[in-house]
Amino acid sequence: MASSSAGLHEPEDRLSSEAIDRHRAIVSIMEELEAVDWYDQRAAAADDPELAGILAHNRDEEKEHAAMTLEWLRRQDPGLNEQLRRYLFTTAPVLEVEAQASGSEGDSGAQAVAAEGAGSLGIGSLKEVAS
Ligand SMILES: [Fe+2]
Repeated sequence: MASSSAGLHEPEDRLSSEAIDRHRAIVSIMEELEAVDWYDQRAAAADDPELAGILAHNRDEEKEHAAMTLEWLRRQDPGLNEQLRRYLFTTAPVLEVEAQASGSEGDSGAQAVAAEGAGSLGIGSLKEVAS
């Protein structure tokens, strides 16, 4: 019987309980999404419409399980939280969201000064503050 820590990539005694719980959540999300895929294909292939409906119902319950566990993981992981907040529920092409994000991360200092210069502060007032 596999233990709850099966699949750890480092010795368990080197990992915090928080890291092991995050691992549990990630594995669980993987299992739920894999089940979604299995049910989705079986529902699509089933000949009997009632069976197809049951399989589709079960598939959609697995989506709820995946979403609940992902939300738990998001609350534990600031980096994941940042990325999900950046990309999820946007409507612009995803690569545009990424380009906008990396543009604002890469040169944030200069862009902030440029933005302020274009706005009400102006470069002159920035220089006065600096001197
Ligand atoms: Fe599930």
